[in-house]
Amino acid sequence: MTELKSLIAEKISEIVKNNYGTSPEICDIISAFEYPPDDSMGDLAYPCFKLSPIFRKGPNVIAQTLAEQFDCPSVAKAQSVGGYLNFFISDEYYSDKLLKGIIDKGQDYGKTDIGKGQTVVLDYSSPNICKPFHVCHLGSTVIGHSIKKLHEFVGYKCVGVNHLGDWGTQFGKQIYAYKTWGNKELVEKGGVDELVKLYVRFHEEAEHNPELNDKARAEFHKLETGDEENLALWKWFVELTIDECNRSYKRLGIEFDSYAGESFYTDKMPEQVQKLKDQGLLKIDNGASIVDLSEYNMPPCLILKSDGSTLYPTRDIAAAVYRHNTYNFAKCIYVTSAQQCLHFQQLFKVIELMGYDFYDKLVHVPYGTISIDGEKLSTRNGNVVLIKDLIDTAVSKVTDIMREKSPDLENLEDVAEQIGVGAVVFYYLMNDRIKDINFVMSEALSFDGNSGPYAQYAYARTCQLLNKVGETKQTKFKVTEKPERELLKVLSRFGETVLCAVRDYEPSDVTRYILDVCTAFNRFYHDCPIMSAEDKEVKATRIALTKATKTVLGNALPLICMKTPTKI
Ligand code: ARG
Repeated sequence: MTELKSLIAEKISEIVKNNYGTSPEICDIISAFEYPPDDSMGDLAYPCFKLSPIFRKGPNVIAQTLAEQFDCPSVAKAQSVGGYLNFFISDEYYSDKLLKGIIDKGQDYGKTDIGKGQTVVLDYSSPNICKPFHVCHLGSTVIGHSIKKLHEFVGYKCVGVNHLGDWGTQFGKQIYAYKTWGNKELVEKGGVDELVKLYVRFHEEAEHNPELNDKARAEFHKLETGDEENLALWKWFVELTIDECNRSYKRLGIEFDSYAGESFYTDKMPEQVQKLKDQGLLKIDNGASIVDLSEYNMPPCLILKSDGSTLYPTRDIAAAVYRHNTYNFAKCIYVTSAQQCLHFQQLFKVIELMGYDFYDKLVHVPYGTISIDGEKLSTRNGNVVLIKDLIDTAVSKVTDIMREKSPDLENLEDVAEQIGVGAVVFYYLMNDRIKDINFVMSEALSFDGNSGPYAQYAYARTCQLLNKVGETKQTKFKVTEKPERELLKVLSRFGETVLCAVRDYEPSDVTRYILDVCTAFNRFYHDCPIMSAEDKEVKATRIALTKATKTVLGNALPLICMKTPTKI
């Protein structure tokens, strides 16, 4: 629709200038366009209210003048209604421009290059070592990856960073616990589960025996100062955890460009701490070093504990500077739960106070909490659901459904995996990211509701239909029916939907758009027979519409981490 909007905007500008001497900028006209709520009011509307005070004429008078003088072959009719100028797209434009445009562009349809020559760093997923990869990290993982895909789609070069939580005093506890009660074979077999057990045991024992904390501190100190045994243990724990996360990443189709986690910044922090000192930004508070942010209505940002050890924010300062020096980013995006909003506000402020001019290129993208079937989850009270278990449950249920529905499907298991994973991801990304989610498995898996399976099923249907009817050589199309126009209108909104999703860091724009496409396609499929269409051009148009739907869904689904099985 973008091209048509520009075309119409230019005409409007021309007429306004002719009648009133001046005109608003083309881009302002474009951004004022609205989609009318129902098609009796046209396909696109231009509200004239803002022009009214400028030209001292009633909005309906302006709309009427514009309607009378509007002339453009792409528009069948321009009508003035209550201060709005409503446009009805011509069937030629539908056939020759919109439909042909999608078919011609194919895999590139919807892409733009607004990000050309610019790099975006995305910090997402970022699990903590020796901790279970639980569903509270699902948001960061899939929202982060989707935002990365969206940026790539509009031309940015993207660097996905998994900022592993792999440093901090807790590793002293973990090492102490392993050395005291651990067993190599058990950890090798049990992986992170076993490490968690050891960690929990440490806390239980330390409650009666507080000097264990000193022992843990000593182990961490040894780790920090390069003790070989402790380093080897730590590395082993890191590998075990990453291996486990990688299994889920693989299923979700996620790869990272960098695994530089918190430990990576150990040797990069002293320079930043020194800089803070030199600039007089560090204050001593109860032995700890802080940056006072009271002037900005925020609690202080903790830089060093009283024993001199660094903290989460210290590592984030070093990471931001390192990333800026390394990637010269246009944006550095952090995707975490909304619980970390304050941390990032403080971080960005400290970076600004340090005089780094890139502070305004740092973006925090928060998301809400997740409950499963109404149950709040938190790792603190041990109420943990693993990402892998959530996906496994979905896949196993989909496998059962499919064994019943399509028992003869080849690769049934592979397809069930793609649908099960997709169901989880789609359900997650359907919500505005900031809203809290209640994950209801039966809704996520519904084959005919607003769900991943429903979307993948529509995509597979386009593939199967095209297989059946074969390619069409026709290049002349004739759009004749309402469901065809409605479908094309939705398909033509793809590019602008992607741009909104990029602008607002909001994958749900694309998810909900996909549902609109599926609904419009299903209506078209139901109302407009393909095989029995007698008119050659009509038949070719319907085949092309199916192909255009396949193109849009095929381009859109991967943007929200979904696979595109061709047969279900
Ligand atoms: N590991 C952190 C957590 O699990 C998330 C890290 C986010 N990224 C960052 N640069 N602070 O909460």
